[in-house]
Amino acid sequence: MKQVIGDEEIRALMSAIERRYGLDFTNYEIKSLKRGIFRLMMKRKIKNILELWSIILKDEEFFKDSIDDLMVNLTELFRNPDAWMMIKKILLEEYKSKPNLSIWHAGCSTGEEVYTMAIILNEISMLSKTKALASDLSSQALEKAKNGKYSLIVMQNYLKPFLEFFPDKKMEDFFDYQEFNAMVKPEFKKHVKFTRHNLAQDPMEQKFDIIFCRNVMIYFDETLKLHVLNMFNNSLNDGGYLVIGYYDTMPKSGADIFDIYDNKTRIYKKK
Ligand SMILES: C[S@@+](CC[C@H](N)C(=O)[O-])C[C@H]1O[C@@H](n2cnc3c(N)ncnc32)[C@H](O)[C@@H]1O
Repeated sequence: MKQVIGDEEIRALMSAIERRYGLDFTNYEIKSLKRGIFRLMMKRKIKNILELWSIILKDEEFFKDSIDDLMVNLTELFRNPDAWMMIKKILLEEYKSKPNLSIWHAGCSTGEEVYTMAIILNEISMLSKTKALASDLSSQALEKAKNGKYSLIVMQNYLKPFLEFFPDKKMEDFFDYQEFNAMVKPEFKKHVKFTRHNLAQDPMEQKFDIIFCRNVMIYFDETLKLHVLNMFNNSLNDGGYLVIGYYDTMPKSGADIFDIYDNKTRIYKKK
């Protein structure tokens, strides 16, 4: 039978986690936290919130391993192909003639978004002048992102959007195929630095031309969204772009910071 867990219990657990581990989930949207907690309890066969409370606060390893269940780190290569078409257009029109390009993938999860960008940049001969930073809260997701190793079963799903982009290419041009997995070729990784960064708590000192933060702010409440949007604004070069996810909503006050560049593909431009 499904447990009923109240909002207050979730908030209290998140405050206790913050005090114990210094990781602040208190401005995450309560509904998504609740879904994450149910996922975690089902997976670890934990019967009730009290049991979860005691394990999570006692056992640091358990807590670290739980972050991926609390969050959702689903991602795909070429997710939302029309957004990638629009990004390619922006790159060609505005950045082709510039000497360098800097990109931040904030909340990169297991790296598929980062490598999609690398493949597109390579196709328009802009990869060699690009530096990318790919960050996430989850060390486990980042480890997978760094490896760039994806199961062949999952790779099958990427073939259709890949061919929409590159009808004359093969996946093997970008991945080394093994018995069960495909590995991103080293030349599509060289320009990326992967780092753990918590959007809710960590500052960002660098500047970027394009920031991707797709399907991350869906978990944040309006206060945290605004905090993150201000950080993105400060971290973007003049006229830079912010790409959010199809289900992300821009808070009303976001309109003071960013202009809509293309509503359908959720691309914004720094004012
Ligand atoms: C659904 S994935 C999005 C992946 C990718 N951007 C995409 O759209 O395909 C959400 C990611 O956000 C990360 N995340 C959640 N809260 C975060 C935070 N405070 N700082 C950095 N990353 C965070 C999660 O660990 C997860 O990997």
